[in-house]
Amino acid sequence: MRPDAKYAAELAADRLAADGAVVTARSPVGDAGVNIEVLVPSSVWKAVGRALDGEPWRYRIGGTGLWRRVPAVGYLWADGSQLLLQRRICPGLLPPWWFAPLEKRLWADAPRRAPADILLTAAVQALRPGAADRDARTRFVAGCSDAAVVRQARAAAAGCRLTGTLDRALAAAGDGRWSGVASRDGRASVARVLSAMSRRIRPTRIRAAVQADLRIGLAPVTVRIAGVETYSPPGSFVPTPDAETLVDTVIAELDGHKHTVAIDCGTGNGAIALGIARHRPRAEVVGVDPDRRAVRAARRAARRAELGNARFLPGSLLDPLPAWTRGRVDVLVANLPFYPPARRAAIGAVAEATIVGEDDDGLGLHRALLAAAGSYLSVEAVIVLQMFSEQWASFARELPRYGLQPAATISSGPFSICRAVRVPQPAGGTS
Ligand SMILES: C[S@@+](CC[C@H](N)C(=O)[O-])C[C@H]1O[C@@H](n2cnc3c(N)ncnc32)[C@H](O)[C@@H]1O
Repeated sequence: MRPDAKYAAELAADRLAADGAVVTARSPVGDAGVNIEVLVPSSVWKAVGRALDGEPWRYRIGGTGLWRRVPAVGYLWADGSQLLLQRRICPGLLPPWWFAPLEKRLWADAPRRAPADILLTAAVQALRPGAADRDARTRFVAGCSDAAVVRQARAAAAGCRLTGTLDRALAAAGDGRWSGVASRDGRASVARVLSAMSRRIRPTRIRAAVQADLRIGLAPVTVRIAGVETYSPPGSFVPTPDAETLVDTVIAELDGHKHTVAIDCGTGNGAIALGIARHRPRAEVVGVDPDRRAVRAARRAARRAELGNARFLPGSLLDPLPAWTRGRVDVLVANLPFYPPARRAAIGAVAEATIVGEDDDGLGLHRALLAAAGSYLSVEAVIVLQMFSEQWASFARELPRYGLQPAATISSGPFSICRAVRVPQPAGGTS
């Protein structure tokens, strides 16, 4: 990105500011991208959500179910920028009205984005119970370099009963010891008890919800893949942009065919199947997954996108396929769990059952799939799989066992989108 160009999230935040929202934080994200936090008054919360629906974001996190208690929604764009909409300053386990006087100030001062209010907000976020915000600490320390702003922040803190919080944050900025919690003055002990409680909440997903920790894998996510919006409930797999490469690969295979059948095995929330169905309206697409919640989400997304040529069946591998598909499958695409069990530590918050494969090398499900696939494939069928590139290097050698041979692959970071085709039968042979 050019240094003078704005990230998608910044442009969106500028548009929201015109409707009365306040940008309370801007932090860099890794090597590229930016994270913008925006406070949105409840009077315009719905209108802001509708406005953002028109923006070309890739992921929307939160916004339903448990998350209603903590009104926060995150948006991620393909350029690496992120926008977090919050109806209130994130309270952790504190009562949501705890910071109401500060919010009132922020909205009253919105047109000029008063730096003292923003500094005080960073102090509150840096010390909030349970889910301390490290970026807020960095922003607070940087903001303290302007003595005039610190003076104004003191005056603002007095009006919001946050003098104690600001003093603790200023002390921490000096000695680096960020202990204590954000509190309304005189209620620090209540805040401390709530903070300790929030750290003990199990399971992790509920703790994350209470602390407004919007993380992929722990919160519900809406994803846009190949022009279709799909929904992943917490605990089910959230499609990555590689799903789009899988869709592109499959629709290229279906070019020139009039009526075709495509199977998406391990469909999850249906992103790949729905992308194929959208771009090849004459194809019949069937998605299969044992995760019933993900299958329900896929069916809902198909109805919403009016894709009647996609259907979703709960079950394992090809077991639920109807009899009419035998010998008629032109493309079998499968992004099944492929992480070797020994690498499970690397998967973070993602549910293990969606990522960690079978057998020591992680490819047990792929072997079972290919063993079952023979009677379903048409003569010119193509199989499209995703796995680590080094896994494909050895798995490709097993293909002849299933009457298959490797074809061209596409690499994407450490992964490969791998193609396999049927071994041609000698003239007069049977398929
Ligand atoms: C890595 S996720 C991929 C989801 C989706 N295809 C995508 O790319 O977004 C793997 C999916 O395989 C599913 N799965 C696990 N075991 C399976 C099995 N025996 N048969 C079919 N699918 C399975 C999981 O539930 C999960 O949704």
